[in-house]
Amino acid sequence: MGLTRLRGFQDLIGPDARAVGIVEDCARAVAERYSINEIRIPLLERLELYQRSTGETTDVVEKQMYAFADRDEAQTTLALRPEGTPGVVRAYIDAGLDRSDPEQRFYYYGPMFRRERPQKGRFRQFNQFGVEIFGRADAACDAELMIMTDEFRRELGLEVEFQVNSLGDANCRPAFRNALLEWGRAHLDKMCEDCHQRLERNPLRLLDCKVDAKLAESAPRSSDYLCEDCRKHFGMVEELLAKADVPYVVNPRLVRGLDYYTRTTFEVISKAVGAQSAVVAGGRYDGLVEALGGAAVAGTGFAIGVERIAIALETERFKIKGAPDAAIIAMGERATVSAVDLAKAMRGAGLRVELLSPERGLKALLRRADKIGARYALIVGENELARGVVQVRDLKASTQREIASGAVAAELAAAAND
Ligand code: HAM
Repeated sequence: MGLTRLRGFQDLIGPDARAVGIVEDCARAVAERYSINEIRIPLLERLELYQRSTGETTDVVEKQMYAFADRDEAQTTLALRPEGTPGVVRAYIDAGLDRSDPEQRFYYYGPMFRRERPQKGRFRQFNQFGVEIFGRADAACDAELMIMTDEFRRELGLEVEFQVNSLGDANCRPAFRNALLEWGRAHLDKMCEDCHQRLERNPLRLLDCKVDAKLAESAPRSSDYLCEDCRKHFGMVEELLAKADVPYVVNPRLVRGLDYYTRTTFEVISKAVGAQSAVVAGGRYDGLVEALGGAAVAGTGFAIGVERIAIALETERFKIKGAPDAAIIAMGERATVSAVDLAKAMRGAGLRVELLSPERGLKALLRRADKIGARYALIVGENELARGVVQVRDLKASTQREIASGAVAAELAAAAND
């Protein structure tokens, strides 16, 4: 067995890691503007948490969990998190916030694990940047989450379409579910193997049948079953989205693959990723806190698929490797001592500096400075040391001049800021 990386897992090296970092930084900056606080939660939880929230009959829990028995006496079954929402809800209840201070706004960033079939944009470990808002049942909150997502994608220059829907609530959802069940029974012969299982257990998922995409067009639409309150809520969401110029369409067949949703659901679609086109997804989950043992508090949120955004944005600016402002070349042992000092002073002035290995000759080191894309090569030899100067070679302009050692950091920092 070769020690290669696992299927569906990625090593992000250099520019690829940077691309993911840029997406994260952008999402973080936007979330901060919306007065949302960071939350960090564990990667491991009890499997039961996901069974009771994401849903036992969902593909995520049924087929894609990385779960194993712990070494404790009870052999508790643990699972790597496939998504962030259940853990955040658990943490919120654990901290007693559902009773003491229910209105909370959280964002999180980190890896999620799903044992899916790998393909472009679909990995077994991927990063989500998620937002969860508690204690807000109003439509403005749903709309603001989408407006926030829209700001984020605009900042990155990404073309997308928002698809929105309402799944109704405990009041009107049962009628929609029954209508789907009846429709499913009538069309079962045209559906896939999975749908035969889904029919009785989770009829909403029939709309995701991949065998005959056209079939879903004849299915009942959730919008035809909404009660008065749900209809009003969704109307308000639509009005606010239109006002904010969010490019959205209503997709009455958008049911989402996780069980906890009520009312508003949405997915953000980018054509640039291929088949895995949902780059952000979310919705309202008003019954979830209570279902997990907390108070009856409303919830709504979304998660950004960070790698999918990075793929969609595969532009030059993500491919720029971080090049140093200066590479320092020291010739001889005493010069090395002084070069370490010089590097420290330059970093203190905010410059990006790499001290090259003193074990090679000048020519090889100049080639190295060029290869790593350094703007300047700074050369310190015995002669320069004796005179208290540094040779500064501008590798872009191919010029060289001498600068007093004590002045190099300030001078190059000033030039970099021009
Ligand atoms: P989700 O639709 O399962 O929702 O995932 C959200 C996003 O994560 C997807 O739109 C996609 O961009 C990304 N994603 C999912 N699976 C993969 C994968 N295997 N590889 C790469 N990217 C992937 C949730 O997870 C909900 N917790 C969102 C939410 C938060 N709803 C309310 N609050």
